[in-house]
Amino acid sequence: MELRLGVVQNRPRFLKTSENLKDCFALMDRHEADLWVLPEFFASGYNFKTKAEARRAAEPADGPLVALLKAYSSKNGCAIVAGFPEKAGARLYNSAVLVRGEKARVYRKTHVFGGEKRFFSPGDTGFWVEKVKGATVGVMICFDWFFPESARTLALKGAQVLAHPSNLVLPWGPEGMKIRSLENRVFSATANRVGAERGLRFIGQSQVVAPNGELYFRLSAERAQAAVVEIEPWTAKDKKVHPANDLFADRRPRLYAR
Ligand code: ACM
Repeated sequence: MELRLGVVQNRPRFLKTSENLKDCFALMDRHEADLWVLPEFFASGYNFKTKAEARRAAEPADGPLVALLKAYSSKNGCAIVAGFPEKAGARLYNSAVLVRGEKARVYRKTHVFGGEKRFFSPGDTGFWVEKVKGATVGVMICFDWFFPESARTLALKGAQVLAHPSNLVLPWGPEGMKIRSLENRVFSATANRVGAERGLRFIGQSQVVAPNGELYFRLSAERAQAAVVEIEPWTAKDKKVHPANDLFADRRPRLYAR
């Protein structure tokens, strides 16, 4: 079964959660998709200056933001992956939720970036995969891309599609994700934000990449936009790059151990 895979690239206004959510839903309403990927911290904004500020923006995984995502998912028959600051007891995590109707599963960012380290604990969920309309989907968040182990772990667990909510600020992410797709023979959907926030500029260029590393599309560096492409997720099961070379069967894990 084909999968209509969409990315939303928004321009969040800092701490204006309901306005930001509404803007994303308006972009999504113009298209039909089976799976939408939204940016990291898409509704809250990103550049927190104090732990108290990050705490005020954070919500539990069963809070109102995820409830609104569930309502949109149920009404429109789509799954959604979206990033949010998660409050879990005394800790904060940089999390993304996969919502399928009333079902929700949280991934907590494994490799926290830069100033996030002041407020957000390193994720403890590990990498997992779930089914979305017959496709096997895994989640990784922004800077996780810089660690090839993230995408590789998801691919070894059977991910055919990497859903990659992002707030990219370094220049290499979009090109880097082409390599992550190519070396794992998987689709990747990077949803980034645009605009600047308290001196930090985000690079946009949200994209969907095929298992051969080719771009389906890349959005602008400046504008809020959404786009959808129809993919054939099962084609990611083929790990061959040459008749004699299957990228997973040819791995030599014994020689990789330190
Ligand atoms: C990032 O991980 N938000 C750069």
